[in-house]
Amino acid sequence: MKVSIIGGGGRVGSDAAYALQLGGIVREIALVDMNGDMAAGEALDLRHGASLTANQKFTSSNEYSVVDGSDVVVITAGLRRKADETRLELVNRNVSLFRGILDSLKSVRLNEGATILVVSNPVDILTSLATDSGIVPRDQVLGLGTVLDTCRFRSLLADHFNINATDVKALILGEHGDSMVPIYSSATVGGVPLFSVPGITPDEINGVFDFTRKSGAEVIRLKGGAGRAVGVSVREVVHAIALDSEAILPVSSVHKGTLGIKDIALSLPTKVGRRGVIQVLEPVVNDSEREGLHKSAQSLKDVLSQIG
Ligand code: 2OP
Repeated sequence: MKVSIIGGGGRVGSDAAYALQLGGIVREIALVDMNGDMAAGEALDLRHGASLTANQKFTSSNEYSVVDGSDVVVITAGLRRKADETRLELVNRNVSLFRGILDSLKSVRLNEGATILVVSNPVDILTSLATDSGIVPRDQVLGLGTVLDTCRFRSLLADHFNINATDVKALILGEHGDSMVPIYSSATVGGVPLFSVPGITPDEINGVFDFTRKSGAEVIRLKGGAGRAVGVSVREVVHAIALDSEAILPVSSVHKGTLGIKDIALSLPTKVGRRGVIQVLEPVVNDSEREGLHKSAQSLKDVLSQIG
């Protein structure tokens, strides 16, 4: 399987490439970046590690021709959010850049069944634009969405309560942004409801969620931008596609009525396979969680309606 990363010379793109190298599943990774030397440097650095990781091919270019023959196109390129800027405020700066990327992709020969995974922010808005682009069938466009937030939330809950991170199953759905919604009603630790685990209190859980929601800005403040957790989140989705695993992940896609949400991309539990969205599953949510998801959808629709 060939994966191309548009923005592969940048922090997020190169961390995603490195996560895919350590994952060892995909066969070829092409890095595209307008900074051709940076993409070439990242590809060379990755190529150096192949003998201790996996038999993979790394290519790079500042031209889109290197994307020909891709099975998955990951779009990470974009202007980084400033620490005090919301992802939605970033939209105007990134939409024209993103539309340029979509135009370039229209001249690329993708493999039949190819999928597009949007990572650039605001990811839900850009996922809607990519879905409407017609480059690939609508269900073959996904956004990383709250896969990253869910990953962070589970990790931070485990860290805070000193429990095994891989035992924590707590979902964040909705916008990958300020209106994201924690789904406490179905959260568990090793199958035990989160609120029933001794030593775990609602106030502390809310505190961890609040820190999760602000974590993107905090990482920007501390190191200029996220990359590592984004990279492993991208790998999770790409591997579900590559292996046709039908993993259920909170990816973003344009909805057709699940939970009463239509015509806007946001994250809901989604069965992911070789051609992207297989099925969106309706999560069991309580009234306040449902209300939060509808607010998230409306907030995103308001922004989408303002884009020229
Ligand atoms: C984040 O939350 C990059 O939006 C991403 O760090």
